[in-house]
Amino acid sequence: MAKRQSTPKIKALVAGNWKMNGIGKQLGEVRKLASAINRKKPNADVMICPPATLLTRMAALKLKGVALGGQDCHADIEGAHTGDISAEMLKEAGAKAVIVGHSERRADYGESDKAVRAKVEAVHRAGMMAIICVGESLKQRRAGETLKIVKAQLRGSLPAVCIAKNTVIAYEPVWAIGSGLTPTIAQVEEVHSALRSALVRRFDDEGAKMRILYGGSVKPANANELMLVPNVNGALVGGASLTAKDFCGILEAYF
Ligand code: 13P
Repeated sequence: MAKRQSTPKIKALVAGNWKMNGIGKQLGEVRKLASAINRKKPNADVMICPPATLLTRMAALKLKGVALGGQDCHADIEGAHTGDISAEMLKEAGAKAVIVGHSERRADYGESDKAVRAKVEAVHRAGMMAIICVGESLKQRRAGETLKIVKAQLRGSLPAVCIAKNTVIAYEPVWAIGSGLTPTIAQVEEVHSALRSALVRRFDDEGAKMRILYGGSVKPANANELMLVPNVNGALVGGASLTAKDFCGILEAYF
């Protein structure tokens, strides 16, 4: 398949969010992924965000072509926060990026836009890239509130100063996550275009260069058409990132 990209000047990012999945025996999947990438050289950056317990072990594999990321962080550098991990700790463990504001965290832990924004600032402070998730619920979509919701999340979750190098947006409709449902191409295009306009209004040239990923039931069968949508600059993949076979199937869109 020809190498193609929806927005030619922006290099795409395809990131796998392993969520709370993966123990040592799954490291083999990342090795397989790396060897496929080095053979086929996709026209996209590739990242895996494993559970924090696997970060150092994945980093120790020193795999070329697969960057690593964390799935969440605390806003502080250190302190009395049992069970939490700081951005600096993730960086030391080998992460280059951190997902923040995932809808599962917004729902499970009541993370507000303000809390997400503090985490984005922490990721930037540590010198890493924040992958900031926004997305509407099914109820909000049915009520015609999608654009209002995602723009408000964007406004509230992003610090005043963001550049394309340290900021990636992921549009993940909550109802499309893990459900096998995806929005229509027209719906994806509408949201991504609204997000692009909001980013440009706020960050000028940097906003024009920021990557906007689509996430929610991305799989080999739908990746190609989704990745061709204007202003879709890659994907944030859950379930299908857990095996090298499915993840490579998605990367086909960039081979
Ligand atoms: P699925 O690809 O499993 O729908 O998950 C998407 C997601 O939440 C990625 O962050």
